[in-house]
Amino acid sequence: MTDYQSGFANEFATESIPGALPIGQNAPQAAPLGLYAEQLSGTAFTMPRTANRRSWLYRIRPAVKHGPFEPVPTGLVRGTPFDELPPSPNQLRWDPVAIPSEATDFIDGLVTICGNGDINTFAGMAAHVYRANRSMNGRFFYDADGELLFVPEMGRLRLATELGVLDVAPGEIAVIPRGVRFRVELFDATARGYLCENFGALFRPPDLGPIGANGLASSRDFLTPVAAFEDRDGDFELVAKYQGALFSAPIDHSPLDVVAWHGNYAPYKYDLGRFNTINSVSFDHPDPSIFTVLTSPTDTPGTANVDFVIFPPRWMVAEHTFRPPYFHRNVMSEYMGLVLGKYDAKEEGFVPGGASLHNCMSGHGPDAETFAQASTATLEPQRYRDTLAFMFETRFALKPTKFAMETEHRQREYFRCWDGLKKNFDPR
Ligand SMILES: [Fe+2]
Repeated sequence: MTDYQSGFANEFATESIPGALPIGQNAPQAAPLGLYAEQLSGTAFTMPRTANRRSWLYRIRPAVKHGPFEPVPTGLVRGTPFDELPPSPNQLRWDPVAIPSEATDFIDGLVTICGNGDINTFAGMAAHVYRANRSMNGRFFYDADGELLFVPEMGRLRLATELGVLDVAPGEIAVIPRGVRFRVELFDATARGYLCENFGALFRPPDLGPIGANGLASSRDFLTPVAAFEDRDGDFELVAKYQGALFSAPIDHSPLDVVAWHGNYAPYKYDLGRFNTINSVSFDHPDPSIFTVLTSPTDTPGTANVDFVIFPPRWMVAEHTFRPPYFHRNVMSEYMGLVLGKYDAKEEGFVPGGASLHNCMSGHGPDAETFAQASTATLEPQRYRDTLAFMFETRFALKPTKFAMETEHRQREYFRCWDGLKKNFDPR
C-alpha cells in the first residue's frame, strides 16, 4: 500500500508512528521515540522563501552512519563535461536500448545518452536510459549531482525512498530530489524508461502568464509519499553518484529508516493524464513550451536549464494549418523520447523507448511522408489518441556519449527520412 499527500512542494508533515514528529520545533534536545533529527537541504539556506526547499527527517540512524565510499566501475554512466567525443551538429536518432539478458538492476542498467553543463556550477542536465530485469536487492542509491526525473516507458516501478514509497507506471513521472536515498523495485519482469538528471535549479511547474491561474499541471495533482520506514539490519550497499562517478559504501542497515518528516524537499509523482493540455483553437501552433509540465529555471528570465515538455493525447482543430510540428531550428536543444504510440511528426522510425536529439540550430521537422500527407489532408477536428511523446529541452547543446554514438541502436541513416522532400517551387 502506498499513500500520498497532495500538492507541489507543500510544507508537508507526516509520521508513520503517532508522536514521532516533534511539534513546534525542528531539533528538540531529544527527538521523540529515540529518533535522530536531521535536516536535508535542497537549496541554499538563504534562498528566497518561495524557492527555499528543505525537509527535517526523524530517523532511526542518521545518514552519516555507513562505511567509507570507494570508487566502483561506472559502467555506462557518464557525467560532465561529456567530452568523450568531439561534438556533432548532425540530427541523431536511436532505436530502444536493449534490456540485458543477464541479471540487471536499476544501477547496473543505467546508460547515459547525452548531457551538458557543469555539475560544479549547478548547470545543465544529463539524459539517461534505465533498464532492469530485477529489483535492487540489498542496495540503495543516491545522486549527489542532481535530481532525477523518471519517465517510465515499460514496466511499473516502486521507488522506495527515505521519505516514503512512490509507485509509478508508464504514463506517470516521478522526481527524486538530489541526495535522497532510494531503492528501485520492479513489479513486472522488465522495466525501461528515461531519466533526466537535472543539475540545475529544482524542477517546478512553470509560471502560467496569460494562461491565468489554471491550466497545464495543477499543483494538487503532484503526489508526495507519506512517511514509511524500514527497521532492517543487514549487509547492505549504498551507491552514490558523485561528480559523475559511482562510489560504493557498506552500510549495516536500511537507510530508508525515516519514521517521520516535515518540509517541502521530497520526492513526488504526477500522472501525465491529468495534464490540462492547451493548444490553438483557431490556426497555427503555439510554441511547444505550451506543453511544459516542469521547468528548471535559470537566472536568465524565460531561459530554462531544462524544460520537461509532453505531447499528450489531444484534439487538433487548427484551420488552414500544417498541423504536425513544422520545420524549425532552435537555439534550445531537444532530446525527445516516446512513451507510447506514435509521434505526429514521424510516422516511422521513432518508436517507444527510442529517442532523438536535435541540438542547437540543427534543422529538423516532419519526414517527407508526414509532410506530404499533412499538406493535403482534409482538416477535420481530429483526436490524437494513444500517443505520449516528451522532450527534455535545454539551453546548452547536449553532447552524446561514446556509447550513444557507437551503439548499434543509433540509426545511422536517420537523415534519409528527409530525402523525399523534393523541390515543389514553381514561380509561374
Ligand atoms: Fe524540435
